Amino acid sequence: MTIQFSTKVLSEIDFKSPKAAAAICALPSDCLVLAYRDTELNQLQALDDLLGGVIAQAKSLGDLDGKAGVCTLLRSGQSWALSKVKLKRVLLVGLGDQDSLIDFAKVVRSAVKNMSGSPIESVLWHMASFMGKQKANQSPAVLLERIRLLAQIMGDQVYRFGVRQAQFKTKPTEKADSLKQVTLITNTNQSSSVKMAIREGAALVEGMNLTKDLGNLPPNVCTPTFLAHTAQNLSKKSSLKVQVLGEKQIEALGMGSFLAVAKGSETPPQFIIMRHDGGKPNEEPIVLVGKGITFDTGGISLKPGEAMDEMKYDMCGAASVFGTMHAVSLLNLKKNVIGVVPTCENMPSGRATRPGDIVKSMSGQTIEILNTDAEGRLILCDALTYVERFKPKAVIDIATLTGACIIALGHVHSGLFSDDETLVKDLSKAGHQSLDTVWRLPLDAAYHEQLKSNFADMANIGGRPAGSVTAACFLSRFAEKFRWAHLDIAGTAWKSGAAKGATGRPVPLLLNYLLDQ
Ligand code: BES
Ligand code: MN
Ligand code: ZN
Repeated sequence: MTIQFSTKVLSEIDFKSPKAAAAICALPSDCLVLAYRDTELNQLQALDDLLGGVIAQAKSLGDLDGKAGVCTLLRSGQSWALSKVKLKRVLLVGLGDQDSLIDFAKVVRSAVKNMSGSPIESVLWHMASFMGKQKANQSPAVLLERIRLLAQIMGDQVYRFGVRQAQFKTKPTEKADSLKQVTLITNTNQSSSVKMAIREGAALVEGMNLTKDLGNLPPNVCTPTFLAHTAQNLSKKSSLKVQVLGEKQIEALGMGSFLAVAKGSETPPQFIIMRHDGGKPNEEPIVLVGKGITFDTGGISLKPGEAMDEMKYDMCGAASVFGTMHAVSLLNLKKNVIGVVPTCENMPSGRATRPGDIVKSMSGQTIEILNTDAEGRLILCDALTYVERFKPKAVIDIATLTGACIIALGHVHSGLFSDDETLVKDLSKAGHQSLDTVWRLPLDAAYHEQLKSNFADMANIGGRPAGSVTAACFLSRFAEKFRWAHLDIAGTAWKSGAAKGATGRPVPLLLNYLLDQ
């Protein structure tokens, strides 16, 4: 179901010497995946000699033009027998002439797509050939970053909800991807850090898979209670210590804002705390807070019907906290990390909160709820107050908070809001590394004007202009006691249309951030 990653360290891995070429060809595999530049094809001469000249032949037929991501599959039997050469296939992947991380990702994705649906189960991945000009660079950091990303892209490509959760179709239509085993061939003297990067990549994939599963599950299955059970099950098999607070305890804490959202639903709210105590006992933790609205109807400020099913994804912030905590615990990260998830449904009913209701948050600040559809900030604000008790080093909240964020940034970057320059720098860097990028939006005092209420300390909406900014400004009023950043993932957590499904973002960003701290 998931890919197994491993490494094979060889003393020599280029194909210039016949000996090195023979050593690689002696490794049994369904497919050797090799990237090339058309100008450097002559460097594959020793390999081609062993393969009986298929590369030269393909070149003369015009099949090896070297365009980025264009794949050419060579098979045994055509010209090499499986005696000395144990490779059943060789996939040649054009590198083009670009060399950025984005280009690397494109080339890798197209190679994996090319094999998808074929019988190829095990591949030898010739890592150095994918480094392009970076090969000369020889920076270990670049190599490790690319290995992590390689695993991330492969895991992403082979994810199949219908295979992992086959209970929803009477006749399942999806088939598991055949790709099961990836062995990286490297010649680095840093084999231990390469192994580590592979472990990190594999844990990231596990985390993303969990995040996608939770996001994709239907809202009648993935309820607040289900999320609580998921956390408890994770704790049985891992380092995670889990605590779940029920309605009574949430009430006793004074979370009047959170409860105002939960009130309209038959399903009780849950407040989930997951701790990974991998650091020193007195070390300040990094805290992740995820919005866990398992379905957002808008409440009495009911949403229009079109595409309302997609509001099952309104717990993707929570799902990303689950996925990141899962990965952190698999890696046994030597850090204290705490995941916090306030979760409930936002439903209309005779008991639901009305527009105009005033509630008191756990912080003591009162809120006039002018629109019950601006519910994310109402559950997050109490969670932010709650996490003060951990004396956090930093708090990052993650939420599918505003439709306005999709208007501002589309489906490319997540919105990043923070007044802490170090957090902004570190999160932006982690975003670039994992291609799970963020774009900073403002939090200026001027926007706070829009949150004024005639009747309470603040209103829960700031009108149409800069809707994502006023939502973030609202949250900032509950985050004054620690370093804080807010990620609005409304545009990045899932895809609509034919490829409808959770993306697993921003788990790559969060895990890369935590790994680099
Ligand atoms: N969960 C939504 C935000 C959302 C909408 C995410 C569409 C992804 C796609 C959030 O709870 C919401 O309804 N926000 C309102 C806020 C408004 C009432 C101020 C919105 O964005 O319209
Ligand atoms: Mn809403
Ligand atoms: Zn919502």
